[in-house]
Amino acid sequence: MQGRLITFEGIDGAGKTTQLQWVRSWLADAGWARSLVATREPGGTGIGRHLRSVLLQVNDEVLDDRAELLLYAADRAQHIAQVIEPALAEGQWVLCDRFTDSTFAYQGFGRGLEMGLVEQSVRMATQGLQPDLTLWFDVDPEMAAKRRQDRAGGGTDRLEAAGLAFQKRTRQGFQELATQFPGRIVQVDGNQELEAVFVIVKEILEPRLKQWLSEDLMEVS
Ligand SMILES: Nc1ncnc2c1ncn2[C@@H]1O[C@H](COP(=O)(O)OP(=O)(O)O)[C@@H](O)[C@H]1O
Ligand SMILES: [Mg+2]
Repeated sequence: MQGRLITFEGIDGAGKTTQLQWVRSWLADAGWARSLVATREPGGTGIGRHLRSVLLQVNDEVLDDRAELLLYAADRAQHIAQVIEPALAEGQWVLCDRFTDSTFAYQGFGRGLEMGLVEQSVRMATQGLQPDLTLWFDVDPEMAAKRRQDRAGGGTDRLEAAGLAFQKRTRQGFQELATQFPGRIVQVDGNQELEAVFVIVKEILEPRLKQWLSEDLMEVS
């Protein structure tokens, strides 16, 4: 029995966290007969939560782009060693909110770090572990910004305006990754209402999950 890693990707406000929770409940309720782990990056471990607060807190010091890249790598190395690998070894299905594609999209395409460096950091953290399936929630960056605003209940400021160009580059990055890995990354139109997006997600997941279960059965027999 083989574990599987499903990652949820997309820009901030794309709906990743909401859809992951819905998928988790659906999988648990529908009796897919696999134990599940829902986790996230950064911050999927105790050590990772320290790193997450360094990464996401606004600070008067500017976090250097390469330092940021390495902190994400450290978070991921710990997360894989402590949570993901052990779960996969037990045959569990792991749902992960952001993973390596976010690093390529944000640190590579968004920040503009050299792709070779980004790739090195990812390889060091993952040692080659790749998701079995990646759902890329693709939303219009303006819509994502509006959702984040509604979530926070705040207005637009200079930083958010600068943030839009950044989110657009990041979205473009996910687009390029999806082109590069067409078998693994599936694009989901996240601009529709929540329920409609979830219907699409289930349509994508169902045949994959069935395929995985039958592969597991063949392994046993
Ligand atoms: N398809 C959607 N339609 C409308 N609102 C949505 C949709 N998906 C998510 N939201 C809302 O947008 C906000 C951001 O969603 P969230 O799942 O936290 O996104 P992410 O984890 O990708 O940043 C939340 O308030 C959520 O309820
Ligand atoms: Mg989220």
